[in-house]
Amino acid sequence: MDVVWTPQPRQALFMSRPEWEAFYGGAAGGGKSDVLVVEALRQTEIPWYKGILFRKTYRQLGELLDKADRYYPRAVPGARYNAQQNCWKFPSGAKIYFAGMQYTKDREKWQGWQFDYIAFDELTHFSFDEYSYMFSRNRPSGPGTRTYIRATGNPGGIGHGWVKQRFITVAPPGVPVKRKLEWIDAKGEKQTGWRYRVFIPAKLQDNLALMKNSPEYVMNLSALPEKERSALRDGNWDSFSGQVFTEWVNDSDHYEDQKWTHVIEPFRCPKHWRILMGYDWGYSKPFACGWYAVDERGKMYMIRELYGCTGDPDVGVQWDVARTAAEIRRIESEDPNLQGRRVERIADPAIFQGNSEGSIAELFERNHVYFERGDHERIAGKMQMHYRLQFDEIGEPMLQVFNTCTNFIRTLPSLVYSSIDVEDVDTRQEDHLYDQCRYVLMKRRISPKVREKEEIPGDDPLNLYEAKRYGMLRRG
Ligand SMILES: Nc1ncnc2c1ncn2[C@@H]1O[C@H](COP(=O)(O)OP(=O)(O)O)[C@@H](O)[C@H]1O
Ligand SMILES: [Mg+2]
Repeated sequence: MDVVWTPQPRQALFMSRPEWEAFYGGAAGGGKSDVLVVEALRQTEIPWYKGILFRKTYRQLGELLDKADRYYPRAVPGARYNAQQNCWKFPSGAKIYFAGMQYTKDREKWQGWQFDYIAFDELTHFSFDEYSYMFSRNRPSGPGTRTYIRATGNPGGIGHGWVKQRFITVAPPGVPVKRKLEWIDAKGEKQTGWRYRVFIPAKLQDNLALMKNSPEYVMNLSALPEKERSALRDGNWDSFSGQVFTEWVNDSDHYEDQKWTHVIEPFRCPKHWRILMGYDWGYSKPFACGWYAVDERGKMYMIRELYGCTGDPDVGVQWDVARTAAEIRRIESEDPNLQGRRVERIADPAIFQGNSEGSIAELFERNHVYFERGDHERIAGKMQMHYRLQFDEIGEPMLQVFNTCTNFIRTLPSLVYSSIDVEDVDTRQEDHLYDQCRYVLMKRRISPKVREKEEIPGDDPLNLYEAKRYGMLRRG
């Protein structure tokens, strides 16, 4: 028999998973795209079967189409490609589509379609909206088909944060995560069901074919700069290129002594410290509030957060102003660090724009929550964040965050640079808690610490310089 393709052990594990959603991720060259393309063939003997594979852009799709060209006609004789529809048709009548989704609106094209198999290659290039929209299209196209979703990707990209949260940090690799779903059926009755998802890590070393055929590929990956190497060769989700706040440190060994870490154990703030609050507006996207205490030296502590997110990445709770204002007032009257204190609130300037019913800021005023207009100069705000995160000689930064502010701690280190405005944070990510923080930092600007110029040693065989820069030798 002519064997067209045999899964490697890690690919076989991914292909054997029963979960509805599975993500095969990590190192480049792990055989990720190959497995998605081949998996699509599984139900092609069923005449009504439909599958679809996505890449972010049509240009990138070429790589998947090349793989399909190589495998499909040999695996299923009689399979034909229709270039106009970007669709492979099989003798049974089954179809596999290939599509780009460069802009979120491109997803509308698939409204009303049904697919049994939906796959995303390089999922970290997509927003959660784009990915989750396709859930609604994952319905059987006829009796007897299995419906499921598969995706692959590397660390980095605008989707890094949500992909990491959804698949990597929720559970150990290979351990399914279960989520309860409730919906109202056609008869108006409440139904419940369970959805499962799982993460299978891809390692370069698992791709024996590639290691054998092109050992130079591994060498190329090893020659990359530290962050890229760690992400692409080792599939490390804590380190990736394009990260904006690379100086961010969350070291639980130092929550108590507060040294060389941005995240710390909460404490009771002295009564005379000033309290500031930042607010970023959102409705279908999350809104974000942060409360800050400022000590005598101007150092800020983020002491409390309120994040209007449903729990699905970047999906807002859609509260009206009255409800948000009530929650803000409740927190300020109950939190021991905020009770009875004067709070200076600073907001996204967008909330001052009026329409016929008045501005959002006015609506807040009617609910006894007063804001001043924040400065949203983006690059200056970003620089303020960098200045504040910088450690001094004894490991003290000018901004620290209570470890109870979990959403801020999760989203800040995931932010990546924009590919359009290369100096700025990409705004297509979960950047709302960062935004509220920027408004507050711009209210109390600081200047950068003057540091002695670092010397990069020419001869450093143990790579101690790098290790020091990334904080690995901090305590020595
Ligand atoms: N099971 C397999 N058998 C043979 N070759 C494979 C297999 N899986 C992957 N490859 C080859 O290894 C290379 C890298 O695989 P690919 O799926 O493109 O990796 P990734 O998408 O993870 O970067 C490709 O040339 C691919 O054809
Ligand atoms: Mg690939």
